[in-house]
Amino acid sequence: MTNISRRSCLGAAAAALALSLPLAAQAQAPIVIKFSHVVAIDTPKGKAADMFAKKAAELTKGRVKVEVYANSTLYKDKEEMEALQLGAVQMLAPSLAKFGPLGVKEFEVFDLPFIFDNTAELHKVTQGPVGKLLLSKLEPKGIRGLAFWDNGFKSFSANKPLRAPADFRGVKMRIQSSKVLEAQMRALGSLPQVMAFSEVYQALQTGVVDGTENPISNLYTQKMHEVQKHLTLSEHGYLGYAVIVNKKFWDGLPADVHAQLEQAMKEATEHANKIAQAENEASLDAVRKSGKTTVYSPTPAERLEFKKATVKVHKEMESRIGKETLDAVYKETGFDPAKL
Ligand code: LMR
Repeated sequence: MTNISRRSCLGAAAAALALSLPLAAQAQAPIVIKFSHVVAIDTPKGKAADMFAKKAAELTKGRVKVEVYANSTLYKDKEEMEALQLGAVQMLAPSLAKFGPLGVKEFEVFDLPFIFDNTAELHKVTQGPVGKLLLSKLEPKGIRGLAFWDNGFKSFSANKPLRAPADFRGVKMRIQSSKVLEAQMRALGSLPQVMAFSEVYQALQTGVVDGTENPISNLYTQKMHEVQKHLTLSEHGYLGYAVIVNKKFWDGLPADVHAQLEQAMKEATEHANKIAQAENEASLDAVRKSGKTTVYSPTPAERLEFKKATVKVHKEMESRIGKETLDAVYKETGFDPAKL
């Protein structure tokens, strides 16, 4: 080796040593994923988020730390979407009814009244190719969709019994930010009002709105049953989530961490979809036991009346959702609005 090449070798070694210190220090600092959501810890989504955090820590051996911020402690509905795009948080699981304002209107297909008869039909969509295609529509917004998590089917609540479409006339109903939900409430003759989830309890308590819709786990864990005298187990629509990450952040993760987080997400998704129904049933029991809310199960004839009153929303919203998406979902579920 010549003197010159020896010198350059030594120089390279010294440079590598200098670089290695900050790298070593960096390697010890965990990658932090801030995961913000708006519901209570004790809900299907809250439990699944915590499970993901636990699995991510286990599988990455502490290289990734998922910080879960529940109950809108960090951001409310609309703000959290903006925060994700700006990179202020890395992960969210907004309900599927909240993607319209982002410009991904296809997600509102999930809000259509009575589009899924049961969870098996729903899973054909969310766990199959249609679900995958829908998640891919988030990419141009700088968002990567990782999974769908269940909550469940919604019930109507108010301070008066809601047993037939006629009962909805003039009732102010809080909705999520979805044009399909707005059309559904109008089809029933009620007055829809978009509002962040964190504000619903107070709005119901003070009479800013009269009623709302949600799966029971959300109603109960936000104590809405304390300010709603009547609950109708209408199961007229579905509420679930898309787990999403900031794409730039996700794409920048090391390959091995990617694989470990994907595995953690797979396990959290299985968990979420397994516990959702039981969580809602437990909440329903708790609502009944509270004695504060009268729970009503509509007869099949009454449910049919709700179906007939709201089916026109499918056609009304076809151009907003996109005929292709609508037909793809109908094909999976067998729903045919013309049959009603
Ligand atoms: C709502 O805003 O009613 C729900 O979507 C909240 C949630 O995330 O379940």
